[in-house]
Amino acid sequence: MTTTSAPPLRMLHAAAEIFPLVKTGGLADVVGALPPALLAAGADARLLLPGMPAILEAVSRPRKVAEFGPAFGAARVTLRIGRLKVGAGEPAVQAYVIDAPWLYARAGGPYQGPDGKPWDDNLQRFGLLGWVSAQLAGGGLDPAWRPDILHAHDWHAALACSYLRMNPGAAARSVFTVHNLAYQGLFPQGDFRLLGLPQRLMQPDGLEFHGWLSFMKGGLMHADRLTTVSPTYAREITTPEFGCGVEGVLRERAADLSGILNGVDPHHWDPATDRSLAAHYSAVDLTGKARCKAALQREMGLAVRADAPLFGVVSRLSEQKGLDLVLAALPALLAEGAQLALLGSGEAPLEQSFEAATAAYPGQVATRIGYDEAFAHRIMAGADLILVPSRFEPCGLTQLYGMRYGTLPLVRRVGGLADTVDDRVGFLFEDAEAGALTAAARRAVLTYREPARWRAMQQEAMARDHSWDAVAARYMALYESMRPTAG
Ligand code: ADP
Ligand code: GLC
Repeated sequence: MTTTSAPPLRMLHAAAEIFPLVKTGGLADVVGALPPALLAAGADARLLLPGMPAILEAVSRPRKVAEFGPAFGAARVTLRIGRLKVGAGEPAVQAYVIDAPWLYARAGGPYQGPDGKPWDDNLQRFGLLGWVSAQLAGGGLDPAWRPDILHAHDWHAALACSYLRMNPGAAARSVFTVHNLAYQGLFPQGDFRLLGLPQRLMQPDGLEFHGWLSFMKGGLMHADRLTTVSPTYAREITTPEFGCGVEGVLRERAADLSGILNGVDPHHWDPATDRSLAAHYSAVDLTGKARCKAALQREMGLAVRADAPLFGVVSRLSEQKGLDLVLAALPALLAEGAQLALLGSGEAPLEQSFEAATAAYPGQVATRIGYDEAFAHRIMAGADLILVPSRFEPCGLTQLYGMRYGTLPLVRRVGGLADTVDDRVGFLFEDAEAGALTAAARRAVLTYREPARWRAMQQEAMARDHSWDAVAARYMALYESMRPTAG
């Protein structure tokens, strides 16, 4: 008997961030973990990344695939391919990198300069990313490989879907994933001409958004399928409250829209092996966690008390994350004997408020302003609870990391937080109000005072499966359902 099996699906993931090389948030974690998990699932998954210095340096044995220009303001653009190994445990992924020094060889963040202002040529920087994606998908740049599926992440890569749609000869299908609808990539409409797309696309049923050019809309209008990073957020973004003005588009495309939860990378997030920690532990033996807590209290200048419930925060400090509610609830929380340890950076007023709270409550509140990967791990391990009181949260990763570390999440019931946290593993509140957060925190503290119950919750949380293998299987099912027909 002969069996015929379909060839492995080929897919190209286009994105602007990848952990640990370029990261502003969870997008980087996902882009670092999903392609290796797809490889492990038998797919031929590759990456396409802008050639920011850290990325160019990390690609091993780069080979030139194509050279062209001038394009998007760059005199010369070289497309290279090499191997990118982002984590100790993961297989290396083949990565295409756009080497365009004029656009990408800069000190500063991926979207902003050192002064905190967006780069003034972001339209060209991410227009090029979209254009190269679609060229690769159409077979125009690498004759040796072309993907079946072009998977674009967030507004930075969204135009890939528009360029691909404008190429009638391309067989590849496209997926656009919304990691955060609040960042849409808006530019003055006059700059549309720089993209080389047909003028008719600059309409409300194309890339136009209230007089602006919206990159995000390229993905929303032109991708074959839309996904976001949790089922609840997939529903929420079709409503005015969460839809950031594009809820109408998302409602129209509801049949093509689904939510697939993110996973946790076990090579980076495992309290039994994590090299950032003072001690190791597992669900079977949690004694090391107490040592991590004491070490964190010492490191941050908190009173070293095993009996004080320690709330941790690791977050961008932005309106989205609802940390103003924590500030408002703080006196009540501290009156319960709790402590707070925060690591974050972002909006200056929030940074200043947390620093002021640290000065007002020495030994009870500790703040570290900045971005520090190892320190984030020490908070995850040392805290008893991880606070994520977001106003909206597409998926959220820190509540998942907390659960892996036996650090119970206290979250608002919204987006991916609602899909990943329940009463058996954490504490939830409904309304974005300090009173609601305080009530949940009181419940958490009461539970904390019952060690047997607490331990049972920790063990349940640590046993929850958020492996990337399971996530990759869901994406594979989506890709298979859209496999281009042969011929
Ligand atoms: P978002 O992408 O909206 O910021 P996520 O919860 O999906 O939210 O992902 C945040 C990621 O960034 C996590 O990996 C978290 O550990 C990390 N992170 C956030 N702030 C900091 C910080 N100040 N230092 C180190 N890591 C941080
Ligand atoms: C975004 C969202 C966050 C999500 C991350 C990765 O930054 O804010 O909720 O976990 O993307 O998908």
